[in-house]
Amino acid sequence: MKDVIEELERRRDNARLGGGKARIDAQHSKGKLTARERIELLMDENSFEEFDTFVEHRCSEFGMEKNKTPGDGVVTGWGTINGRVVYVFAKDFTVLGGSLSESHARKMTKIQDMALKNRAPIIGLFDAGGARIQEGVDALGGYGEVFQRNVLASGVIPQISVIMGPCAGGDVYSPAMTDFIFMVRDTSYMFVTGPDVVKTVTNENVSAEELGGAKVHTSKSSIADGAYENDLETLLQMRRLMDFLPSNNKAGVPLLPTSDSPDREDRSLDTLIPDNPNKPYDMKEMILKVVDEGDFFEIQENYAKNMIVGFARMEGHTVGIVANQPMVLAGVLDSDASRKAARFVRFCDCFEIPILTFVDVPGFLPGTAQEYGGLIKHGAKLLYAFAEATVPKITVITRKGYGGAYVVMSSKHIRGDINYAWPTAEIAVMGAKGAAEIIHRADASDPEKIAARIEEYKARFANPFVAAERGYIDEVILPHGTRRRICRGLNMLRNKTLENPWKKHDNIPL
Ligand code: HXC
Repeated sequence: MKDVIEELERRRDNARLGGGKARIDAQHSKGKLTARERIELLMDENSFEEFDTFVEHRCSEFGMEKNKTPGDGVVTGWGTINGRVVYVFAKDFTVLGGSLSESHARKMTKIQDMALKNRAPIIGLFDAGGARIQEGVDALGGYGEVFQRNVLASGVIPQISVIMGPCAGGDVYSPAMTDFIFMVRDTSYMFVTGPDVVKTVTNENVSAEELGGAKVHTSKSSIADGAYENDLETLLQMRRLMDFLPSNNKAGVPLLPTSDSPDREDRSLDTLIPDNPNKPYDMKEMILKVVDEGDFFEIQENYAKNMIVGFARMEGHTVGIVANQPMVLAGVLDSDASRKAARFVRFCDCFEIPILTFVDVPGFLPGTAQEYGGLIKHGAKLLYAFAEATVPKITVITRKGYGGAYVVMSSKHIRGDINYAWPTAEIAVMGAKGAAEIIHRADASDPEKIAARIEEYKARFANPFVAAERGYIDEVILPHGTRRRICRGLNMLRNKTLENPWKKHDNIPL
């Protein structure tokens, strides 16, 4: 018996060494942790249980029969994060660059299947060189199997991808089909084809960082939802994120006890809106003052900053926040902001997370750049996402709610459950100046006359009361009581039941 136990230990130690000490040192020297070190940080202490530690590849091309490492470049298993079950796979770059073989793919798909069957989230830690070149089509097939499972699990269990090193070729498309992608600054990059191929095909000289680093993907392409300084910070932030997410689409949002009273009033909100309607203010201040303990997990913080989205809690329950940001482009809706918010709204709706919408929007952004870029279709995505959502939806208009953008931003007309307005709200087809100049075109050349017309329009429409008279706004509320109103509203909506007509799936304008 002693011998077999010793043999097991010897085999385990060997497997834990992955590609060997020299490659582990090389990994550390790049500022990166190994796959197992990362899992240790991500999971609750001693909770990780590894599967398929001894799996090896079966390739015999290019002398590969002599190049086998137990585990075959990916560490898989399950554990808990703050007590809740999570499945995980972590690419081991020290083994053939974390490249994907047929056996490696089987390990991943086993974990994907278990996560889906047992309705628990799955997190993938990526640090890999794509398809195992020596395996050819078997590796390609392996990717296909992984992708298929990503799609089947989509909307059923949260799937999170964390890019912690190179992520190229086949490795990018699995993350792209998951719910969120996070990256590590300076040490991770993602692209379909690397700098060498780019040089050959397009003659562009570009570094890996310039082509697919965290900065590019968090601010330009919107592929990544956030980036952090190093492996440690990234993994700790993933633990924080998981506390906001339900385990699956039927589990309901997690409840994290809070000492923040639902009745807490914030008098400073009464003076948040400047007297001058064209002066910006920071909508994030409003969010932080309303939600539990000012704890807000922002998604895509550096992309389309005119729109803010992210997770927070009210009375301990997760909510999704969607808000216009008047500090950037006056909070206007453009294509990027619409796409960003639409995807977030759909995530919340999939996973039964109530949506709070804070509105201060002057309309859609005019111009050829936007129109040529498909503003109609991208704006429609957000309209569609809010309109199809059946989760509790509470909307607060703080200032401008103009035109189509007013309708889009979770208005009463697209099934907003509770629509509040602050007394500073202005709900109208457009701003007073534009409106007066159109309806009184004849007076447009006379500055005095047009100024009077603008004032006339303002007096009539630059307020929440016309909408409130129609019932489009349920109540005009005092800013300092916003948190209390929302907490009460969410409690009232806790058992909301609303179903859309049966369909195979919808046809959102993609
Ligand atoms: C087999 C690979 C590999 C791969 C890396 N290695 N990528 N082995 N298949 N795809 C091995 C290297 O041979 C090396 O082995 C070790 O991993 C570390 O690689 P290095 O090149 O020394 O590391 P580094 O300089 O950090 O560069 C990392 C890298 C580079 C940028 C990822 O290795 C690279 O460009 N790899 C190829 C990427 C690629 O083209 N993949 C195929 C994409 S096609 P030793 O033994 O020396 O440690 C694809 C199609 C799928 O994925 C499509 C599905 C739809």
